Amino acid sequence: MHDQAERLRQLTLAADAQRGIIKQKKNLRVITVASGKGGVGKTNLVVNLAIALSRLGKRVIVMDADLGLANVDIILGLLPMHNLLDVVRGIKTMEEIMVSGPEGMKLIPGGSGLVELANLAMDQRDRLMTNLMRLEHTADILLIDTGAGLSRAVLSFISAADELIVITTPEPTAITDAYGIIKVVSKYNIHQEVKLVVNQVRDHREGCDIAKRFSDVSHKFIQVNIQFLGEICSDQQVVRAVKQQQPFMTLFPRARASYDVQNIAEKLLDIAPEKTRGVSGFISRLSRMMEK
Ligand SMILES: Nc1ncnc2c1ncn2[C@@H]1O[C@H](COP(=O)(O)OP(=O)(O)O)[C@@H](O)[C@H]1O
Ligand SMILES: [Mg+2]
Repeated sequence: MHDQAERLRQLTLAADAQRGIIKQKKNLRVITVASGKGGVGKTNLVVNLAIALSRLGKRVIVMDADLGLANVDIILGLLPMHNLLDVVRGIKTMEEIMVSGPEGMKLIPGGSGLVELANLAMDQRDRLMTNLMRLEHTADILLIDTGAGLSRAVLSFISAADELIVITTPEPTAITDAYGIIKVVSKYNIHQEVKLVVNQVRDHREGCDIAKRFSDVSHKFIQVNIQFLGEICSDQQVVRAVKQQQPFMTLFPRARASYDVQNIAEKLLDIAPEKTRGVSGFISRLSRMMEK
């Protein structure tokens, strides 16, 4: 009964948001998604979470900041003409490079091969910053997909965002790499809290077990609080959707993985921070990181 009432409330909220009744009260939430190990499902989480959040009435922009292997567009089956590189070079504005994805989400295509952010010339950096500023009032959530490993660029996006989602699979190597990120976050005092998603699990139980172990170790040794957002089951529909270059949330709305991601989206909205620093905070931190 409670679930039904909650869903009705969310549907009303979504309808209101679509009609533009709800004015943006809070700053945009900037959330970076990172994993350490590659191939654990970051890009799939980002894209499908964006769709799930859109269904809950949020305006979501996905930024493909995997500068080495930008592939959000591939999973969405889009063929963007331009990317961040054109913004950096001053050929296009952010509005001109943004493309519309399913269910109202927007994508900022990453620049494959774009050199590390640290290597940008001063005027290129300024251009990127000015263009990012324009996002503040056009979205509620900016989700940033990053590359594997802990490169300087990945670390910059982790530090600059208000929130960090770390994703891992049950594989020991993935867990070790995810833990590596959390250690760095703690060492440099970047975030007190880190959100966790466990992907490709057998069942809910396995997700909870891994999250609990992860949380205990993090709390004991490095004083970082882990907020478990949920797990995503290993699901062949995900693989099928990737092959068809469509997000599983839209192609297979009844798939187990779609249900799991919708739960994660609801949890993410439930634990929204009191205050966010919005795009301006994100930009000032990003530019500080780049200057170092
Ligand atoms: N929940 C899942 N169930 C089954 N396969 C998955 C799942 N999540 C990811 N995969 C597989 O892993 C591959 C890599 O996912 P991707 O999102 O591109 O990872 P990353 O961005 O971390 O490199 C996908 O193409 C898919 O085949
Ligand atoms: Mg990826």
